[in-house]
Amino acid sequence: MTSLKDIRAQFLEFFASRDHFVAPSAPLVPQNDPTLLFVNAGMVPFKNVFTGVETRDYKRAASSQKCVRAGGKHNDLDNVGYTARHHTFFEMLGNFSFGDYFKDGAIENAWDLVHRQFGLPAEKLTVTVYHTDDEAFDLWRKISGLPESRIIRIATSDNFWAMGDTGPCGPCSEIFYDHGEHIPGGPPGSPDEDGDRFVEIWNLVFMQYEKHGDGSQTDLPKPSIDTGMGLERIAAVLQGVHDNYDVDLFRTLIAASVDLTGRKAEGADAPAHRVIADHLRATSFLIADGVAPSNEGRGYVLRRIMRRAMRYAHQLGVRDPLLARLAPLLVREMGGAFPELGRAEPLIVETLKSEEEKFRSLLDRGLKLLDEETENLPAGAALPGAAAFKLYDTYGFPLDLTQDALRREGREVDVEGFDAAMKAQREAARRLGGVGRRRR
Ligand code: SER
Repeated sequence: MTSLKDIRAQFLEFFASRDHFVAPSAPLVPQNDPTLLFVNAGMVPFKNVFTGVETRDYKRAASSQKCVRAGGKHNDLDNVGYTARHHTFFEMLGNFSFGDYFKDGAIENAWDLVHRQFGLPAEKLTVTVYHTDDEAFDLWRKISGLPESRIIRIATSDNFWAMGDTGPCGPCSEIFYDHGEHIPGGPPGSPDEDGDRFVEIWNLVFMQYEKHGDGSQTDLPKPSIDTGMGLERIAAVLQGVHDNYDVDLFRTLIAASVDLTGRKAEGADAPAHRVIADHLRATSFLIADGVAPSNEGRGYVLRRIMRRAMRYAHQLGVRDPLLARLAPLLVREMGGAFPELGRAEPLIVETLKSEEEKFRSLLDRGLKLLDEETENLPAGAALPGAAAFKLYDTYGFPLDLTQDALRREGREVDVEGFDAAMKAQREAARRLGGVGRRRR
């Protein structure tokens, strides 16, 4: 079996052998973009190179970039634990051309890597192009020999990638792997495309334009390439499993979580172990990149991720710090590729331990209150906003933690009521000259 580590190394070596500069992953906190909470794609550290604001002494690069998608525009937090492919932290493998090769080079490299090097059979691959992009369509025909029926034209924004409301953008072409007939789902563009059968493994963006704040769009100095392939997804494909949480690294982390909790990763307990493994990665990497838990901004996103994991650990019957005990294993598994993790190990362990200890009794009492509140509610009725606010304000329950805790009984939270309670408290605090209840 090719391990996740080997796949990362193979990807970077492949592009190094094709004259790409192998760039170390940039920190998760964007160095060049105050509007962005966390780096959420491989191209983010290169944004200014695409737009021509910055130059580098190389025109081709490749990286395995740390990404966090929690909070902000791309937020996958609520899905983690319940799906095969969502993560708060993941690595995006990418190759980049800054005005060097364009569509032909990008498609050639991609085909050589997935088909020749990784050995994925052509009949398992389907690609998409933007509906008007005849050039990409013809290049795929010529380079891969795929039949026209498996080069699908897509007219929606799925095949036009933009970093955000502003920044570099362009049409894109995606490569899908077919996990087989036994899994429900249809090819991209079909009514069943959301099924799990066809999984997008690589996105090739033909960066050509820059969107500006006033809505206008100009050409980039030179057509460029930005590609992104989720390491955990391609690892699942190459390891012959359908679920990212079945790849070697996650199996190791989940086995350790099973060991420490004494609860098998089966049935109702399975999501808890997935959440713990995923959130352990996100929290450890965020701490290593200098984020500290707090009640605002990035620090609050970190705290929400940690507390979500702690609730799942609690559900597994754990009352001692669990993430802190798992962190050294993560450092052993990933510290080779990311030395910052090893350097920060004592800080990671200490931060996790102190947060877990601080939240433990609040969590216990908060969950009791939540039980009492829901006991008297009719089945399916939403939890009143005032109760959710009390949990937030007095017991340090982020709103998404309460929502997640109620998920199993199919109950929602009255979010409008929660927002109203929050607003009322802020106004009261202002009237009192800023003396409000302290959030924990
Ligand atoms: N920027 C593109 C994405 O995030 C390709 O890397 O999918």
